[in-house]
Amino acid sequence: MTGTPTGLSQAATSNRRPIETARNDFPILDQTVAGKPLVYLDNAATTQKPRRVIDSLRHYYEHDNANVHRGIHELSERATRQYESARDKVRDFINADVREEIIFVRGTTEAINLVAQSYLRPILAAGDEILITEMEHHSNIVPWQLVAEQTGARLRVAPITDSGELLLPTLAEMIGPRTRLLAVTQVSNALGSINPVADIVRLAHEQAVPVLVDGAQAVGHMPVDVRAIGCDFYAFSGHKMYGPTGIGVLYGRRDLLEKMPPWQGGGEMIRSVSFEKTEYNVLPHKFEAGTPHIAGAIGLGVAIDYIEDLGRSAIECHEQDLLAYATGALARVPGLRLVGTAPQKAAILSFLIDGLHPHDISTVLDREGVAVRAGHHCAMPLMARLGIPGTTRASLAFYNKPAEIDALVRGLLQVVAFFNRGRAGG
Ligand code: ALA
Repeated sequence: MTGTPTGLSQAATSNRRPIETARNDFPILDQTVAGKPLVYLDNAATTQKPRRVIDSLRHYYEHDNANVHRGIHELSERATRQYESARDKVRDFINADVREEIIFVRGTTEAINLVAQSYLRPILAAGDEILITEMEHHSNIVPWQLVAEQTGARLRVAPITDSGELLLPTLAEMIGPRTRLLAVTQVSNALGSINPVADIVRLAHEQAVPVLVDGAQAVGHMPVDVRAIGCDFYAFSGHKMYGPTGIGVLYGRRDLLEKMPPWQGGGEMIRSVSFEKTEYNVLPHKFEAGTPHIAGAIGLGVAIDYIEDLGRSAIECHEQDLLAYATGALARVPGLRLVGTAPQKAAILSFLIDGLHPHDISTVLDREGVAVRAGHHCAMPLMARLGIPGTTRASLAFYNKPAEIDALVRGLLQVVAFFNRGRAGG
Protein backbone atom coordinates (compact mmCIF):
# COMPACT_ATOMS: atom_id res chain seq x y z
CA MET A 1 0.00 0.00 0.00
CA THR A 2 1.48 3.33 -1.00
CA GLY A 3 0.48 6.82 -1.93
CA THR A 4 -1.26 9.71 -0.30
CA PRO A 5 -4.89 10.20 0.54
CA THR A 6 -6.64 11.85 -2.34
CA GLY A 7 -8.81 14.05 -0.18
CA LEU A 8 -6.41 16.19 1.84
CA SER A 9 -8.65 19.15 2.31
CA GLN A 10 -8.03 22.68 1.11
CA ALA A 11 -8.19 24.07 4.62
CA ALA A 12 -5.29 21.84 5.55
CA THR A 13 -3.14 23.10 2.73
CA SER A 14 -4.10 26.73 2.28
CA ASN A 15 -2.71 27.90 5.60
CA ARG A 16 0.04 30.49 6.11
CA ARG A 17 2.57 27.71 6.66
CA PRO A 18 1.90 24.43 4.87
CA ILE A 19 1.50 21.76 7.50
CA GLU A 20 3.32 19.15 5.40
CA THR A 21 6.59 21.12 5.65
CA ALA A 22 6.17 21.71 9.38
CA ARG A 23 7.36 18.15 9.98
CA ASN A 24 10.89 19.40 9.27
CA ASP A 25 10.65 21.53 12.41
CA PHE A 26 10.87 18.40 14.56
CA PRO A 27 14.49 17.17 14.64
CA ILE A 28 13.67 14.01 16.58
CA LEU A 29 11.53 12.64 13.77
CA ASP A 30 14.53 12.43 11.46
CA GLN A 31 16.12 9.23 12.78
CA THR A 32 16.06 5.50 12.36
CA VAL A 33 14.96 2.94 14.92
CA ALA A 34 15.97 -0.68 14.40
CA GLY A 35 17.41 0.41 11.06
CA LYS A 36 14.04 1.74 9.86
CA PRO A 37 12.81 5.35 9.66
CA LEU A 38 11.13 6.25 12.93
CA VAL A 39 7.33 6.33 12.67
CA TYR A 40 6.15 8.08 15.81
CA LEU A 41 2.47 7.31 16.47
CA ASP A 42 2.37 7.77 20.26
CA ASN A 43 1.32 11.40 20.31
CA ALA A 44 -1.43 10.96 22.89
CA ALA A 45 1.28 9.92 25.36
CA THR A 46 3.47 12.87 24.46
CA THR A 47 4.03 14.96 21.36
CA GLN A 48 7.43 15.80 19.93
CA LYS A 49 8.88 19.30 20.23
CA PRO A 50 9.63 21.71 17.41
CA ARG A 51 13.10 23.22 17.23
CA ARG A 52 11.73 26.61 18.31
CA VAL A 53 10.60 25.17 21.64
CA ILE A 54 13.88 23.33 22.18
CA ASP A 55 15.85 26.47 21.30
CA SER A 56 13.77 28.57 23.69
CA LEU A 57 14.71 26.31 26.62
CA ARG A 58 18.36 26.44 25.71
CA HIS A 59 18.26 30.21 25.21
CA TYR A 60 16.60 30.71 28.56
CA TYR A 61 19.20 28.69 30.44
CA GLU A 62 22.11 30.17 28.51
CA HIS A 63 21.06 33.82 28.79
CA ASP A 64 18.22 34.59 31.16
CA ASN A 65 18.08 32.00 33.94
CA ALA A 66 17.08 33.57 37.27
CA ASN A 67 14.24 33.22 39.72
CA VAL A 68 11.02 35.06 38.96
CA HIS A 69 9.25 37.85 40.85
CA ARG A 70 12.04 38.17 43.42
CA GLY A 71 15.35 39.49 42.17
CA ILE A 72 15.85 43.18 41.57
CA HIS A 73 18.31 42.50 38.81
CA GLU A 74 18.30 42.30 35.05
CA LEU A 75 18.20 38.51 34.71
CA SER A 76 15.35 38.13 37.18
CA GLU A 77 13.41 40.84 35.41
CA ARG A 78 13.94 39.12 32.08
CA ALA A 79 12.88 35.75 33.46
CA THR A 80 9.81 37.30 35.08
CA ARG A 81 8.85 39.14 31.90
CA GLN A 82 9.05 35.97 29.82
CA TYR A 83 7.26 33.83 32.41
CA GLU A 84 4.39 36.30 32.74
CA SER A 85 4.23 36.82 29.00
CA ALA A 86 3.74 33.05 28.64
CA ARG A 87 0.71 33.42 30.93
CA ASP A 88 -0.72 36.06 28.59
CA LYS A 89 -0.20 33.75 25.64
CA VAL A 90 -2.09 30.97 27.43
CA ARG A 91 -4.89 33.39 28.27
CA ASP A 92 -5.25 34.34 24.60
CA PHE A 93 -4.84 30.74 23.44
CA ILE A 94 -7.84 29.46 25.40
CA ASN A 95 -9.68 32.80 25.46
CA ALA A 96 -9.84 33.13 29.24
CA ASP A 97 -11.25 36.40 30.50
CA VAL A 98 -8.26 37.55 32.54
CA ARG A 99 -4.67 36.40 33.10
CA GLU A 100 -5.37 35.80 36.80
CA GLU A 101 -7.37 32.76 35.71
CA ILE A 102 -4.27 31.02 34.33
CA ILE A 103 -2.41 28.96 36.95
CA PHE A 104 0.81 27.24 35.95
CA VAL A 105 1.00 23.70 37.32
CA ARG A 106 3.00 20.56 36.47
CA GLY A 107 0.34 19.18 34.17
CA THR A 108 -3.25 18.03 33.85
CA THR A 109 -2.96 15.63 36.78
CA GLU A 110 -1.77 18.32 39.16
CA ALA A 111 -4.45 20.72 37.92
CA ILE A 112 -7.22 18.22 38.67
CA ASN A 113 -5.78 17.36 42.09
CA LEU A 114 -5.66 21.08 42.88
CA VAL A 115 -9.36 21.48 42.07
CA ALA A 116 -10.24 18.33 44.02
CA GLN A 117 -8.44 19.48 47.15
CA SER A 118 -8.83 23.24 47.05
CA TYR A 119 -12.22 23.76 45.41
CA LEU A 120 -14.12 20.58 46.17
CA ARG A 121 -12.89 19.26 49.50
CA PRO A 122 -13.99 22.27 51.56
CA ILE A 123 -17.54 22.12 50.21
CA LEU A 124 -18.09 18.33 50.17
CA ALA A 125 -20.20 16.61 52.78
CA ALA A 126 -20.96 12.93 53.29
CA GLY A 127 -23.47 11.80 50.68
CA ASP A 128 -22.54 14.49 48.13
CA GLU A 129 -21.78 13.31 44.63
CA ILE A 130 -19.02 13.85 42.08
CA LEU A 131 -20.05 12.91 38.56
CA ILE A 132 -17.53 11.60 36.02
CA THR A 133 -17.85 9.37 32.94
CA GLU A 134 -16.80 5.86 32.02
CA MET A 135 -14.19 7.12 29.56
CA GLU A 136 -12.05 9.10 32.01
CA HIS A 137 -8.30 8.80 32.37
CA HIS A 138 -7.07 7.74 35.83
CA SER A 139 -6.07 11.37 36.42
CA ASN A 140 -9.71 12.36 36.17
CA ILE A 141 -10.86 9.53 38.45
CA VAL A 142 -8.40 9.06 41.29
CA PRO A 143 -8.26 12.68 42.56
CA TRP A 144 -12.05 12.53 42.95
CA GLN A 145 -11.86 9.14 44.68
CA LEU A 146 -9.33 10.58 47.11
CA VAL A 147 -11.51 13.53 48.00
CA ALA A 148 -14.56 11.27 48.21
CA GLU A 149 -12.74 9.05 50.71
CA GLN A 150 -11.70 12.09 52.70
CA THR A 151 -15.24 13.45 52.97
CA GLY A 152 -17.67 10.55 52.64
CA ALA A 153 -18.81 11.79 49.22
CA ARG A 154 -19.67 9.39 46.42
CA LEU A 155 -18.33 9.02 42.89
CA ARG A 156 -20.98 8.47 40.21
CA VAL A 157 -20.11 7.39 36.70
CA ALA A 158 -22.08 8.30 33.57
CA PRO A 159 -22.20 5.50 30.99
CA ILE A 160 -20.98 5.35 27.40
CA THR A 161 -22.14 3.28 24.44
CA ASP A 162 -20.13 0.35 23.10
CA SER A 163 -18.82 2.62 20.36
CA GLY A 164 -17.47 5.06 22.94
CA GLU A 165 -20.06 7.83 22.93
CA LEU A 166 -21.33 9.46 26.09
CA LEU A 167 -25.01 8.79 26.76
CA LEU A 168 -26.02 12.41 27.23
CA PRO A 169 -29.64 11.85 28.37
CA THR A 170 -28.41 9.49 31.10
CA LEU A 171 -25.68 11.90 32.09
CA ALA A 172 -28.31 14.65 32.34
CA GLU A 173 -30.47 12.45 34.58
CA MET A 174 -27.52 11.73 36.84
CA ILE A 175 -26.96 15.42 37.61
CA GLY A 176 -28.92 15.87 40.82
CA PRO A 177 -29.26 17.96 43.96
CA ARG A 178 -26.26 16.24 45.58
CA THR A 179 -23.94 16.70 42.58
CA ARG A 180 -21.17 19.08 43.58
CA LEU A 181 -19.00 18.81 40.43
CA LEU A 182 -19.01 17.18 37.02
CA ALA A 183 -15.60 16.24 35.57
CA VAL A 184 -15.39 15.15 31.95
CA THR A 185 -12.74 14.76 29.31
CA GLN A 186 -13.03 16.71 26.08
CA VAL A 187 -11.27 13.96 24.09
CA SER A 188 -10.83 10.38 25.29
CA ASN A 189 -7.14 9.44 25.29
CA ALA A 190 -7.99 5.77 24.79
CA LEU A 191 -10.83 5.97 22.24
CA GLY A 192 -10.50 9.38 20.62
CA SER A 193 -14.18 10.22 21.25
CA ILE A 194 -14.82 13.96 21.29
CA ASN A 195 -17.39 14.95 23.88
CA PRO A 196 -19.82 17.86 23.33
CA VAL A 197 -18.42 19.70 26.32
CA ALA A 198 -20.32 22.95 25.75
CA ASP A 199 -23.63 21.02 25.78
CA ILE A 200 -22.53 19.10 28.86
CA VAL A 201 -21.65 22.33 30.65
CA ARG A 202 -25.07 23.77 29.77
CA LEU A 203 -26.81 20.70 31.22
CA ALA A 204 -24.77 20.93 34.41
CA HIS A 205 -25.18 24.67 34.81
CA GLU A 206 -28.96 24.34 34.51
CA GLN A 207 -28.65 22.61 37.87
CA ALA A 208 -25.93 24.95 39.17
CA VAL A 209 -23.28 22.22 38.99
CA PRO A 210 -19.77 23.40 38.07
CA VAL A 211 -17.80 21.53 35.42
CA LEU A 212 -14.12 20.66 35.07
CA VAL A 213 -13.00 19.75 31.56
CA ASP A 214 -9.88 17.63 31.06
CA GLY A 215 -8.44 19.15 27.91
CA ALA A 216 -5.18 17.20 27.78
CA GLN A 217 -5.95 15.48 24.47
CA ALA A 218 -7.82 18.40 22.94
CA VAL A 219 -5.91 21.61 23.34
CA GLY A 220 -3.05 20.82 20.91
CA HIS A 221 -5.36 19.42 18.26
CA MET A 222 -8.35 21.74 17.88
CA PRO A 223 -9.43 25.28 18.73
CA VAL A 224 -10.37 25.61 22.40
CA ASP A 225 -12.29 28.54 23.85
CA VAL A 226 -13.04 28.14 27.54
CA ARG A 227 -15.62 30.91 27.50
CA ALA A 228 -17.48 29.35 24.57
CA ILE A 229 -17.39 26.00 26.37
CA GLY A 230 -18.53 27.79 29.50
CA CYS A 231 -16.62 25.47 31.84
CA ASP A 232 -15.57 26.44 35.34
CA PHE A 233 -12.19 24.69 35.20
CA TYR A 234 -10.09 23.49 32.27
CA ALA A 235 -6.88 21.48 32.67
CA PHE A 236 -4.13 20.64 30.21
CA SER A 237 -0.46 19.67 29.87
CA GLY A 238 2.26 21.38 27.85
CA HIS A 239 3.95 18.19 26.69
CA LYS A 240 0.90 16.95 24.79
CA MET A 241 0.84 20.18 22.75
CA TYR A 242 4.43 20.32 21.51
CA GLY A 243 5.69 22.03 24.68
CA PRO A 244 7.98 20.85 27.48
CA THR A 245 7.16 18.21 30.08
CA GLY A 246 6.50 19.28 33.67
CA ILE A 247 4.40 22.32 32.79
CA GLY A 248 0.65 22.55 32.43
CA VAL A 249 -2.24 24.87 33.09
CA LEU A 250 -5.26 25.06 35.29
CA TYR A 251 -7.79 27.57 34.01
CA GLY A 252 -10.36 28.45 36.65
CA ARG A 253 -13.13 31.02 36.73
CA ARG A 254 -11.82 33.94 38.69
CA ASP A 255 -14.68 34.11 41.18
CA LEU A 256 -14.13 30.45 42.07
CA LEU A 257 -10.35 30.75 42.31
CA GLU A 258 -10.71 33.82 44.54
CA LYS A 259 -12.71 31.82 47.07
CA MET A 260 -10.48 28.74 47.04
CA PRO A 261 -7.76 28.33 49.69
CA PRO A 262 -4.18 27.78 48.51
CA TRP A 263 -3.35 24.16 47.84
CA GLN A 264 0.35 24.20 48.66
CA GLY A 265 2.20 26.62 50.93
CA GLY A 266 5.50 28.42 50.40
CA GLY A 267 7.25 30.73 47.98
CA GLU A 268 5.31 33.03 45.74
CA MET A 269 1.88 32.22 47.15
CA ILE A 270 2.65 34.33 50.21
CA ARG A 271 2.18 38.04 50.83
CA SER A 272 3.32 38.14 54.44
CA VAL A 273 4.18 35.51 57.01
CA SER A 274 4.42 35.58 60.75
CA PHE A 275 4.29 32.62 63.11
CA GLU A 276 0.76 33.67 63.98
CA LYS A 277 -0.68 34.26 60.52
CA THR A 278 0.10 34.14 56.84
CA GLU A 279 -1.52 36.35 54.25
CA TYR A 280 -1.80 34.86 50.81
CA ASN A 281 -0.79 36.46 47.57
CA VAL A 282 -3.29 37.48 44.92
CA LEU A 283 -4.24 35.36 41.90
CA PRO A 284 -2.64 33.68 40.09
CA HIS A 285 0.33 33.54 42.47
CA LYS A 286 -1.79 32.18 45.33
CA PHE A 287 -1.67 28.81 43.58
CA GLU A 288 1.96 28.85 42.46
CA ALA A 289 3.91 27.85 45.57
CA GLY A 290 7.67 27.44 45.27
CA THR A 291 9.87 28.24 42.32
CA PRO A 292 7.81 27.39 39.24
CA HIS A 293 8.96 25.64 36.08
CA ILE A 294 10.04 28.94 34.54
CA ALA A 295 11.71 27.48 31.45
CA GLY A 296 8.74 25.16 30.98
CA ALA A 297 6.25 28.03 30.99
CA ILE A 298 8.39 29.98 28.52
CA GLY A 299 8.66 26.89 26.30
CA LEU A 300 4.91 26.41 26.51
CA GLY A 301 4.44 30.00 25.34
CA VAL A 302 6.67 29.26 22.35
CA ALA A 303 4.70 26.08 21.61
CA ILE A 304 1.56 28.23 21.56
CA ASP A 305 3.21 30.66 19.10
CA TYR A 306 4.18 27.67 16.98
CA ILE A 307 0.66 26.21 16.96
CA GLU A 308 -0.86 29.60 16.19
CA ASP A 309 1.49 30.03 13.23
CA LEU A 310 0.14 26.82 11.74
CA GLY A 311 -3.44 27.58 12.76
CA ARG A 312 -5.47 25.33 15.03
CA SER A 313 -8.30 24.86 12.53
CA ALA A 314 -5.76 23.81 9.91
CA ILE A 315 -4.18 21.37 12.37
CA GLU A 316 -7.58 19.92 13.23
CA CYS A 317 -8.54 19.61 9.58
CA HIS A 318 -5.28 17.94 8.63
CA GLU A 319 -5.52 15.47 11.51
CA GLN A 320 -9.10 14.63 10.52
CA ASP A 321 -7.86 13.82 7.02
CA LEU A 322 -5.15 11.60 8.50
CA LEU A 323 -7.73 9.91 10.73
CA ALA A 324 -9.98 9.15 7.76
CA TYR A 325 -7.03 7.77 5.83
CA ALA A 326 -5.84 5.65 8.75
CA THR A 327 -9.34 4.32 9.46
CA GLY A 328 -9.61 3.13 5.86
CA ALA A 329 -6.07 1.72 5.83
CA LEU A 330 -6.47 -0.27 9.06
CA ALA A 331 -9.58 -1.95 7.64
CA ARG A 332 -7.21 -3.92 5.39
CA VAL A 333 -5.64 -5.75 8.31
CA PRO A 334 -7.33 -9.15 8.78
CA GLY A 335 -8.96 -9.58 12.17
CA LEU A 336 -8.48 -5.93 13.21
CA ARG A 337 -11.29 -4.28 15.14
CA LEU A 338 -11.30 -0.60 16.05
CA VAL A 339 -12.20 0.14 19.66
CA GLY A 340 -13.85 3.57 19.75
CA THR A 341 -15.87 4.48 16.70
CA ALA A 342 -17.78 7.52 17.90
CA PRO A 343 -18.84 9.77 14.99
CA GLN A 344 -16.96 12.70 16.53
CA LYS A 345 -13.41 11.46 16.94
CA ALA A 346 -9.93 12.88 17.27
CA ALA A 347 -7.02 11.19 15.46
CA ILE A 348 -6.62 8.33 17.93
CA LEU A 349 -7.02 4.75 16.70
CA SER A 350 -7.29 2.05 19.34
CA PHE A 351 -7.63 -1.49 18.06
CA LEU A 352 -7.57 -5.20 18.73
CA ILE A 353 -6.44 -7.96 16.39
CA ASP A 354 -8.01 -11.39 16.79
CA GLY A 355 -5.88 -13.70 18.88
CA LEU A 356 -3.02 -11.24 19.36
CA HIS A 357 -1.98 -9.47 22.53
CA PRO A 358 -1.52 -5.68 22.25
CA HIS A 359 1.93 -5.91 23.83
CA ASP A 360 3.06 -8.46 21.24
CA ILE A 361 1.75 -6.24 18.47
CA SER A 362 3.60 -3.18 19.72
CA THR A 363 6.81 -5.13 20.32
CA VAL A 364 6.86 -6.34 16.72
CA LEU A 365 5.95 -2.86 15.46
CA ASP A 366 8.84 -1.40 17.44
CA ARG A 367 11.21 -3.65 15.52
CA GLU A 368 9.83 -1.98 12.38
CA GLY A 369 10.55 1.49 13.82
CA VAL A 370 6.84 2.12 14.54
CA ALA A 371 6.11 3.56 18.01
CA VAL A 372 2.59 2.94 19.34
CA ARG A 373 1.22 2.41 22.85
CA ALA A 374 -0.26 -0.83 24.11
CA GLY A 375 -2.21 -1.56 27.29
CA HIS A 376 -4.96 0.11 29.25
CA HIS A 377 -3.83 3.68 28.48
CA CYS A 378 -4.37 4.76 32.11
CA ALA A 379 -8.07 4.02 31.67
CA MET A 380 -8.49 0.66 33.40
CA PRO A 381 -12.17 1.21 34.31
CA LEU A 382 -12.90 2.00 30.65
CA MET A 383 -11.21 -1.21 29.54
CA ALA A 384 -13.24 -3.12 32.15
CA ARG A 385 -16.43 -1.48 30.83
CA LEU A 386 -15.54 -2.60 27.29
CA GLY A 387 -14.62 -6.08 28.54
CA ILE A 388 -11.07 -5.99 27.18
CA PRO A 389 -7.67 -5.96 28.91
CA GLY A 390 -6.30 -3.21 26.68
CA THR A 391 -5.70 -2.13 23.11
CA THR A 392 -2.94 -1.15 20.75
CA ARG A 393 -3.19 2.57 20.11
CA ALA A 394 -1.88 4.70 17.27
CA SER A 395 -2.31 8.39 18.05
CA LEU A 396 -1.55 10.93 15.37
CA ALA A 397 -0.24 14.46 15.22
CA PHE A 398 -0.25 16.92 12.31
CA TYR A 399 3.35 16.01 11.45
CA ASN A 400 2.45 12.40 10.67
CA LYS A 401 2.33 11.44 7.01
CA PRO A 402 0.07 9.05 5.14
CA ALA A 403 3.23 7.08 4.31
CA GLU A 404 3.69 6.49 8.04
CA ILE A 405 0.21 5.06 8.29
CA ASP A 406 1.15 2.80 5.40
CA ALA A 407 4.20 1.72 7.41
CA LEU A 408 1.94 0.95 10.39
CA VAL A 409 -0.33 -1.16 8.21
CA ARG A 410 2.66 -2.98 6.66
CA GLY A 411 3.94 -3.68 10.15
CA LEU A 412 0.55 -5.00 11.27
CA LEU A 413 0.30 -7.28 8.24
CA GLN A 414 3.72 -8.64 9.22
CA VAL A 415 2.58 -9.13 12.81
CA VAL A 416 -0.45 -11.09 11.64
CA ALA A 417 1.64 -13.19 9.23
CA PHE A 418 4.31 -13.81 11.87
CA PHE A 419 1.87 -15.09 14.48
CA ASN A 420 -0.09 -17.10 11.91
CA ARG A 421 3.16 -18.81 10.86
CA GLY A 422 3.93 -19.52 14.52
CA ARG A 423 0.51 -21.11 14.99
CA ALA A 424 0.75 -23.12 11.78
CA GLY A 425 4.20 -24.32 12.85
CA GLY A 426 2.62 -25.59 16.09
N1 ALA B 1 -2.29 9.95 29.19
C1 ALA B 1 -1.23 9.58 28.32
C2 ALA B 1 -1.65 8.56 27.29
O1 ALA B 1 -2.81 8.48 26.98
C3 ALA B 1 -0.02 9.16 29.06
O2 ALA B 1 -0.82 7.86 26.77
